[in-house]
Amino acid sequence: MTTTARTRHFSFLRSAMSLARVSLFRQRVPITVLWMLSNRCNLRCEYCCIPSREGKELSTERCLSILDEMAAAGTTRVGLLGGEPLIRSDIHEIVTHAKRLGMMVQLYSNGYYVPKKLETIKLLDGLFISVDGPEDVHDLARGKGSYAAAMAAIQAARPHVPVFMISVVTNRSRRHLGYMAELARANDCLVTFQTVTKLGDLSPDVTCLELNDQELDEVFLELRMLRRENPHVVTSEAFIEKVLNRRPDQPRDHYQMGSIKCWYGKALANIDADGTVYTCSSLIGIEQGLNLRDSTFRQAWDHIGSTRCQGCNITCGGEYNVFLSLNPSAVKNVVRILWRVLRS
Ligand SMILES: C[S@@+](CC[C@H](N)C(=O)[O-])C[C@H]1O[C@@H](n2cnc3c(N)ncnc32)[C@H](O)[C@@H]1O
Ligand code: SF4
Ligand code: SF4
Repeated sequence: MTTTARTRHFSFLRSAMSLARVSLFRQRVPITVLWMLSNRCNLRCEYCCIPSREGKELSTERCLSILDEMAAAGTTRVGLLGGEPLIRSDIHEIVTHAKRLGMMVQLYSNGYYVPKKLETIKLLDGLFISVDGPEDVHDLARGKGSYAAAMAAIQAARPHVPVFMISVVTNRSRRHLGYMAELARANDCLVTFQTVTKLGDLSPDVTCLELNDQELDEVFLELRMLRRENPHVVTSEAFIEKVLNRRPDQPRDHYQMGSIKCWYGKALANIDADGTVYTCSSLIGIEQGLNLRDSTFRQAWDHIGSTRCQGCNITCGGEYNVFLSLNPSAVKNVVRILWRVLRS
């Protein structure tokens, strides 16, 4: 077994132990931290306004010490995103340090810098590349040439790391779910979907791109059919059922769509590009988080423990939430994904 494969097995084992602390022993542990390392980005996608945000990034030195503090608090998985995380010149140091601490590290990228940063990519436990559909549909949403860059990134990274495509479903791209499933099969990677959402001040008004109720049903019925016939589609059956059986009229105190228990703030946290810790990215600008320039990660994590979120309608956190609730079919789905990842 290679050293990379051994460290991957070790990271998964540590994550499983932290999960047991949260799910079985009801402790509050920041198992997964989603960290927006930068607002900077080379693209201007139609549903995202992160690149137009201001705010100073954390220094390399502070990023590394935050990783130490996160490890001490029990974090076993970090998701690096942005903006475009590979735009940071110190990304290799950050990923190397997280791996040294035994964390599972996954990185979300538009793909542009992947071929040039393969040494960093090789260290990851998973690389998520955004692909929204066929070239014309993708480029219309994300900019000319961005589909070709995403495909080149997948080709370059695939021999070294498990690759996931992450696809934003809008009322334009919703007709191309079958295309995405076949693209994942052809490239031997996995594909996951998230519906376009208004994400606080991270996105513009996306009303004209959103799915209406009927379209949401059609999308998730098609995903249910696709995942049954194509193992590269990894949206879980559990999450699909939750969306199809959503109860939007139910009280939403800490429940998404009136039906999914939310684990953000109990097992998940979000760090904004300026270093502020929030319960989740939908609460940026709403919740008063502490900033890691003048607080430790532990202090900031304890601080968000008091947030009482009124719930939301988003689907992107849904997969984490059904899994952390130990829904049997969601757990089975994660085991299926891990099996593929560990074999690759
Ligand atoms: C914020 S981006 C950061 C990583 C990288 N720049 C990228 O585009 O993959 C993380 C994911 O969120 C998606 N995203 C951005 N704005 C969104 C929105 N308003 N609704 C749903 N997903 C969105 C992106 O397409 C991407 O897959
Ligand atoms: S979705 Fe990603 S690639 Fe597109 S503008 Fe936002 S941060 Fe940049
Ligand atoms: S906005 Fe949604 S995902 Fe975020 S904390 Fe509230 S219920 Fe959870």
